[in-house]
Formats: sequence, C-alpha cells, structure tokens
Amino acid sequence: MTQVMSGAGHHVDASTLLLQASSVTMRFGGLTAVNNVSLDVHAGEIVGLIGPNGAGKTTFFNCLTGLYKPTSGEVRFAGELLPPKPRLVVRAGMARTFQNIRLFHNMTALENVMVGMYSRTKTNAIDAVFRLPRHRREELASTERARELLDFVGLSSAADMLSRNLPYGDQRRLEIARALATDPKLLLLDEPTAGMNPQETRQAEELIFKIRDLGLAVLVIEHDMRFIFNLCDRVCCLVRGEVLVEGVGEVVQNDPRVIEAYIGAPAEPPADVPPPTAEPPASEAGKGSADA
Ligand SMILES: Nc1ncnc2c1ncn2[C@@H]1O[C@H](COP(=O)(O)OP(=O)(O)OP(=O)(O)O)[C@@H](O)[C@H]1O
Ligand SMILES: [Mg+2]
Repeated sequence: MTQVMSGAGHHVDASTLLLQASSVTMRFGGLTAVNNVSLDVHAGEIVGLIGPNGAGKTTFFNCLTGLYKPTSGEVRFAGELLPPKPRLVVRAGMARTFQNIRLFHNMTALENVMVGMYSRTKTNAIDAVFRLPRHRREELASTERARELLDFVGLSSAADMLSRNLPYGDQRRLEIARALATDPKLLLLDEPTAGMNPQETRQAEELIFKIRDLGLAVLVIEHDMRFIFNLCDRVCCLVRGEVLVEGVGEVVQNDPRVIEAYIGAPAEPPADVPPPTAEPPASEAGKGSADA
C-alpha cells in the first residue's frame, strides 16, 4: 500500500478509495449533460476535471454533491452510497465551492466561515436561544477555529470585513475556508482561479497543495491548463458529457483529442471534398468566414 506523508505529519493511505462515481448520467429533458461518467478519487489525491464550456463539469459536481439526483448511476463515498442531499453529503465528508461564488455578502469573512462549521457542531436551537454553557463553549471554539482557517487561506487580516467588500480573489479563498470549516475529507473546487490574476492563481495553487498536505483529497475543475497540469496527479477530460480521456497529467496533456476538444478540429477539409481549384469570384473575395 502506498503511504503518503502529509505536511501535518499524518499518514494518508493513498490507496483508500474516497469517492467512487459509477456510470453517472444526468438528463435535462432531451439534453444529456452528463453521460455515463465514472470517476474515482483516492485519499490524498489531487484530481483535475477539464473540458470545454458546457461539457458537463459543473453538472457532474452537482450530481456528486447532492444538488442533483442523477438520472442514473451511483455515487459512493468511503464505500457508502451517498444520499442526494447536500447536507448529508457534507456530513459524509465532502465540501465544495461554487463556480459563481456563493457567500453571505452581508456577513463578515469570519461569520461566513462559522456558517460552514454549524453542520458539525452539536449546538441545537434551544442551546443557542438560552445561551446554555455548551453553546457558549462551542461558540468560542468555533470562533477560534474560524480564525485559524482564515489564517490558513491567507485572510487573517480580513476577518471582520463584510465578504462583499473583499476583492474577488479573496472571496474565492474565503469560500475555500468555509468549505474547510465543515472538516471534509474531499474538497471539490469549481473554477477556483476564475477571475484571478497570475499572482493570485499561483497563491491558489500553493493553497491547494497545502490542503492536500493536510491529508485531504481535492477534485478541481479549471480552464487554466497550466494550473491544472502543475497541480494534478490525474486529470479527467469531459467532452459533451462524456469522459474523453482520463490519466496522469502528461498523458492527458499530450492527447491530441484533448487539444482538439478545446480548439476545435484541425482546419483540414474532409477527404471526400476536393480542394478548391480556382480563386473565388471577386464578389466573394472580401467576405471571409469565422473559421477561415
Ligand atoms: N439545470 C439545468 N437545466 C437544464 N440544462 C442544464 C442545467 N444545468 C446545466 N445544463 C446544461 O448542461 C450542459 C452542461 O452544463 P455545465 O454547466 O455542467 O457545463 P460546464 O462543463 O460546467 O461548463 P463551463 O465550463 O462553462 O462552466 C450545458 O448544455 C448546460 O446548458
Ligand atoms: Mg461549470
């Protein structure tokens, strides 16, 4: 069995299967957004999910995290079948961020992280209303943990700022802190560097390595190929809802089908179309075409 030494000093058994998505299909009416997709993520792995716009990446995340109930297929986490309910998925040990940032904009950064923690604390409404000792103890511990997490993502100085006043890159990091507050084993990130400048992107890369060093697994969607291939142990490329190729970075990066999926088919005429033999008539000359 492969043992990975994490930065925090824990041994992570990299052969432990955490997420096991089997033949997941999601249809919206006549549109098959995700078609028969299977993907495994092991403990301590960073796995990338790439593919052109509309390939089904976010829909697949939504199927994994209980926002959608797949039309068919199943999702297991640590061997257990995952119920398609976001709250139960979080309890099972999976947390996510969203392509379109979803923060509580009128709450401070610290409060946003504390919201993430509530799914884990034992406090119930009665404890909170009567401010029973257990509630006060938990609140203190939560505040301390939230500050640690803000520090971990590099936002300690922003703790008391309203999240809507944070720069875009900081909002993305805050979402990660909030996801970490649920104490996940697997973190799913949907385009964590969208809208970031190159320096912020490098910081995000370092942050994700640090998260892995804590012993977590990460599944990350991104369009920035340099980021993906620097970061990921394995990459899966979706095209039109289906897995085109999956493997280690070098294999996926050099697969001509992946390049073609992103930039379109090479501009060669089909074999049965004869090449043009004459100049176009003068009236056609200046028109041009979008794919010329
Ligand atoms: N709730 C929905 N109802 C109907 N169609 C949907 C729904 N969600 C997604 N789709 C469609 O499913 C397909 C896949 O969309 P999805 O958002 O998963 O793609 P994506 O790979 O995340 O793209 P992007 O890189 O642009 O974020 C698209 O054709 C989209 O229009
Ligand atoms: Mg998406």
